[in-house]
Amino acid sequence: MTGNIPDDKIQLMREGVDILELVSRYVQLKRSGANHVGLCPFHTEKTPSFSVNPGRQIFKCFGCGVGGDAFEFLMRIEGLSFPEAALRIASEMGIDIEERRLSPEEERRRQEHESLQRVNAIAAEFFHRQLLDAPQAEDCRQYLNRRGYGRTSATEYQLGYAPDRWDALTKHLQQQGVDPAEARTLGLIRRREKSQGDYDLFRGRLIFPIHDLSGRIVAFGGRILGEGQPKYINSPESPIYHKGQVLFGLYAARQAIRQAAEVVLVEGYFDQLALARAGVNNVVATCGTALTVEHAQLLKRYAKRVLLLFDDDKAGRAATFKSMELLLPTGLETAVIELEVGEDPDSFLQKHGKEVFAAQLQAARPVIELFMEDRLSAAPSGAAGVSRAAQQVLEMLVLLPNPLEVDLSLKELARRTEIEVDLLRQQLEQIKSQLLERSARQKRVPAPRLEETVPLPSEPAAEQQRALTPADAKLLKLLIFEPDVRQQIVEQEVETFFFDAASCALATELIRQLQDVASGQELTRLQQRPELLERLPQPLLYDPAEYAGAGRQMLESYQQKTADRRRRQQLKGYS
Ligand code: UTP
Ligand code: MN
Repeated sequence: MTGNIPDDKIQLMREGVDILELVSRYVQLKRSGANHVGLCPFHTEKTPSFSVNPGRQIFKCFGCGVGGDAFEFLMRIEGLSFPEAALRIASEMGIDIEERRLSPEEERRRQEHESLQRVNAIAAEFFHRQLLDAPQAEDCRQYLNRRGYGRTSATEYQLGYAPDRWDALTKHLQQQGVDPAEARTLGLIRRREKSQGDYDLFRGRLIFPIHDLSGRIVAFGGRILGEGQPKYINSPESPIYHKGQVLFGLYAARQAIRQAAEVVLVEGYFDQLALARAGVNNVVATCGTALTVEHAQLLKRYAKRVLLLFDDDKAGRAATFKSMELLLPTGLETAVIELEVGEDPDSFLQKHGKEVFAAQLQAARPVIELFMEDRLSAAPSGAAGVSRAAQQVLEMLVLLPNPLEVDLSLKELARRTEIEVDLLRQQLEQIKSQLLERSARQKRVPAPRLEETVPLPSEPAAEQQRALTPADAKLLKLLIFEPDVRQQIVEQEVETFFFDAASCALATELIRQLQDVASGQELTRLQQRPELLERLPQPLLYDPAEYAGAGRQMLESYQQKTADRRRRQQLKGYS
């Protein structure tokens, strides 16, 4: 992530950026008096209510109410944080904000990433040219054709072919003067064990490039042509690729997702292609991995609702419910599209066509409904079995953000189990309070090291047991998600920022846990420490915009407030 952007540079951009030009890249605008109007890209409409005023450098939609300046527009349309949007505008305007802001370490990382990205671009181009032109790629072209994809899709998706040789890419990269160490870091080539030199990871495979949010290629997936194992090989994790944070197709689909406020999540690369071909453009796939919290947060930037479309088998069901557990707490509405047993989206579309598929899409059902069905039908008959299933459903119901939906689900559960609805309601409340109590109990235990260094506040015990203050919660999130905030807190001492012993302990523990974590990996690390995660503000959502712009001043005001409280407390002690 980026650090602070100097105010004067932001001012410069605000004044200089051409909002009309920027918006025109996404929206067709027509002049109308002082304004330019068009169809709003943030909601679906037939008559234009979206308007840009170039004089005032602002946009506004009178349909959905969204409005703001050029930064706001770019943040919304591309799902960027403020610093990300500002960086983009700056680089287009030729304003140099990068150099001065980055520490030497950050600068080194930036260069490394850029260089790795270049290697991937060279490899992608090589695979792509092979697929389009090379005689040896004939099998691959035929394979694609058999699945219904021609040259146009190959170009649109930048698909490629990795020749069935040990050193096709290795040699090509060499000729291009690529440092083999970088290609190894990306997993594109590997050192031979018994002889000199390297060999290719992808051989005789159809190649799917995987893009990040800026459209840069960060990884590849390679499918074998026809039958065989492994069916897919994927790029390993690398400094530019964390598969838990990347979704296949998101770059191309992001605007369609935003427009629909809805995203379809599928399992496979080919499913993504198949849906897009059928005109469903708001689709993404995970890249050979289960959905993660980071994926969920990423989707939340673009959509309000997620439609899960997994294979209709046991594994697909399990994946659906696992995803549900991650998606619901983020506040994303989650529904499930059901196909036929044994079909995946690709094969279903081949068999039944677009219209039938569209009907299935329309008929998506809330995931909790399916979960209820699944648990109850799997339950052994008899009181013990049914009540256990009911308990499992209630444990999921506490995750639902919408109380109306909770209420309806409770009634449905009562109807199906023949348990009194009031009893279910009581039980739900109990699960909720157990959850709260568990996290409160953990908050009460300060870390031993801190007990020695921090004088325990003289506030009543009840005060300490209270949940985190909103200010502490906000600062903890900054500490978790903004590496330079964490750094500053370490340098200037935890106690100058947090007031009570419990939050100090929590902050110290987080710093310890996150000290060697790469930026962007914070949540993954914390997920491995559920007992720590439980003590944190829930849901653990972070919007970089909260920090953007305010930066250092925000931290100073935290310190100020904490200092004030300490002073007041001391005064009270003396009087
Ligand atoms: P599937 O086996 O369902 O493949 O795996 P698919 O995408 O539908 O491909 P086709 O239509 O059979 O050709 C779903 C996803 O799981 C990952 C890939 O991301 C794949 O798209 N996967 C699967 C792997 O990473 N490795 C494998 O060996 C298999
Ligand atoms: Mn499949």
